[in-house]
Amino acid sequence: MRSFKKLSCFALTAVISVTLLAGCGGDENESKQIIRIGHNQSSEHPTHIALTAFEEYIEEKLGDKYSVEVYPSELLGSQTDMVQLTQTGAINFCVASNAILETFSKNYEIFNLPYLFVNPEAYHAVMDDTGITDKLFKSTAKAGFEAVTWIDAGTRNFYTVKKPIERPADLSGMKIRVQQSPTNVEMMRLLGGSATPMGFGDVYTALQSNIIDGAENNELALTNNGHGDVCKYYSYDMHQMVPDILIGNYSFLEKLPQEERDVFEEGFKLVNKVEREEWTKAVDEAKERAEKEQGVQFYYPDVQPFMDACKPLHETVLSKNPDIKPIYDAIQEYNDRFAE
Ligand code: GCU
Repeated sequence: MRSFKKLSCFALTAVISVTLLAGCGGDENESKQIIRIGHNQSSEHPTHIALTAFEEYIEEKLGDKYSVEVYPSELLGSQTDMVQLTQTGAINFCVASNAILETFSKNYEIFNLPYLFVNPEAYHAVMDDTGITDKLFKSTAKAGFEAVTWIDAGTRNFYTVKKPIERPADLSGMKIRVQQSPTNVEMMRLLGGSATPMGFGDVYTALQSNIIDGAENNELALTNNGHGDVCKYYSYDMHQMVPDILIGNYSFLEKLPQEERDVFEEGFKLVNKVEREEWTKAVDEAKERAEKEQGVQFYYPDVQPFMDACKPLHETVLSKNPDIKPIYDAIQEYNDRFAE
């Protein structure tokens, strides 16, 4: 993985050079602008399927002007690298977990809070409410990017190599990989485990070489990323529903003529729609494959002790960052509406 990641820098340079050379060759791409989109999932993942639908849509509507290229599997670097490439305009778009966006703009902390939503229905309704998300999504112009849509990344749960997590005390003494966000590190401290932040692409090797005892993610990490080959215990403690966010380079988006921007906006809606349709199927398939082919066992612990341990984090984050209180309050209204 590590050498693969070093290679990815060369890959990006190569990708850009080949594209430029192709342009010099006078082929039909010469007059077209290449739109590069990077993400860290495999080419079977719902994210890739959705971005491929976007590619087809944009090329169908604006194909005389743009050619869209989607790069999966961290080919353009880790998510953090790709956010930086998007900020500078070296690439046009990338998919970033909301978790890492909090280091680029503090207000993204809100969707990283554990047990923020009462259920997936409340989570989806909040993320679909542009009255809630718009201000946040457009708040990063100075940082060089804008969020253009969200996509589902399911529910995050713990999975481990040696023994199942059935209560927070089971995490004691365990090194658990978390995403690179201060909120996640604090969540693990409250739960009693030892947080090991690292990029997604490094997790498989870290599990295999016992650098970490487990990780936390949705079910697709078991199959698509092979983590279920090493971790045989997956516990539904349901600690987070963290969306993935499609972000675009700010000046690229700003410079689009209005009629093209409208087409892109339709394309962003399509990404959201296709990914969510694919997501539901993919989770069921991943669970079945993990159980049958990888021998992963699924556990359904009492969630309440996990919630109780994490709860103080809401207050800590809100008191340090009162700007997100209005969003937090609006989320509670959805929680009340959707609570069973
Ligand atoms: C999920 C999510 C990714 C994220 C990954 C992680 O797979 O969809 O965007 O990078 O979790 O844990 O880092």
